Order: sequence, then structure tokens, then C-alpha cells
Amino acid sequence: MARIEGNCLEVCEAAEFVAIVTHGDDGPHVVGNWGDYMRKLGIEADTIVLPVGIYRKTEENLRKNGRIQLLVASRKVQGTRSPGQGYLITGSAKIVSTGEVADTVKAAFPWARGALVITVEDIQAQL
Ligand SMILES: Cc1cc2nc3c(=O)[nH]c(=O)nc-3n(C[C@H](O)[C@H](O)[C@H](O)COP(=O)(O)O)c2cc1C
Repeated sequence: MARIEGNCLEVCEAAEFVAIVTHGDDGPHVVGNWGDYMRKLGIEADTIVLPVGIYRKTEENLRKNGRIQLLVASRKVQGTRSPGQGYLITGSAKIVSTGEVADTVKAAFPWARGALVITVEDIQAQL
């Protein structure tokens, strides 16, 4: 199990947006979310929670295959050789529309129909 901490946490705290990939019968499916939405819900070491407004295809994919990948990056965080770092975050995920986490998300984002709950399993620095 990997944890969101150190340099990876710095990137998550600075990222403007998050790219999210799930796997469908027809191949990869890419959607987005905002970095400030991720931060508003609090980044835990092993869990990321994002608001679900639409994510219908993402939800369909996750029902069949719970694997998910996130790409976060920021120029403001130092990479190994130069300014700018990004992380590929791999894990499992589900969309919940009821329960404590969904209620928290709906309170923070009244337009949300639920929460995308990601359990972090691996992080890989990109730069
Ligand atoms: C920067 C960015 C932020 C987004 N934020 C959200 C969001 O918070 N919730 C959401 O459901 N869709 C968000 N979207 C739209 C999704 O990428 C996607 O187009 C939409 O939810 C439909 O998902 P689906 O193809 O899985 O049905 C965002 C897109 C971008 C580019």
C-alpha cells in the first residue's frame, strides 16, 4: 500500500486538475476533476474522495472493474531534475450515493449526486 504524503501530497495540494482513467469494455475512459474539489474534501493518506456530478460511464466501468488511475501534476512542485512534478496514483474505486461519505460530499457540493471514493494502492512519480 502506498500513501499520499511528502512530495506526492505537495503535488496534490498544488494540482489544478486531476485526470481519472477507468477501464471499460471499449477501452480506457478519461474524465476530469478539479484539484480544489479534491482538497476541499480532504486528502487522506490512503483515500481520495471526489464529487460525482455526472460520471455515468465511469460508474458503469467501476461496477465491472474497480481499477482506477489518477494523474496529478503541478509546475509549482520540484521534480527530480527540474521544476514540475506529477504522480500516477493507482488504486480501486467505487461511487457511493448514500451513507456518511456521500452525505459529506453532498453537503460540500450541493449539486453532487454522490462521492467517488478512491483507495490508493500505488503512487509513481513521473518526473
Ligand atoms: C477539470 C474538470 C473537472 C471536472 N469536475 C467534475 C466533477 O467534479 N464531477 C463530475 O462528475 N464531472 C466532472 N467533470 C466532467 C467529467 O470529466 C466527465 O466529462 C463527466 O462527469 C461525464 O462522465 P462520464 O463520461 O463518466 O459519464 C470535470 C471535467 C474536467 C475537465
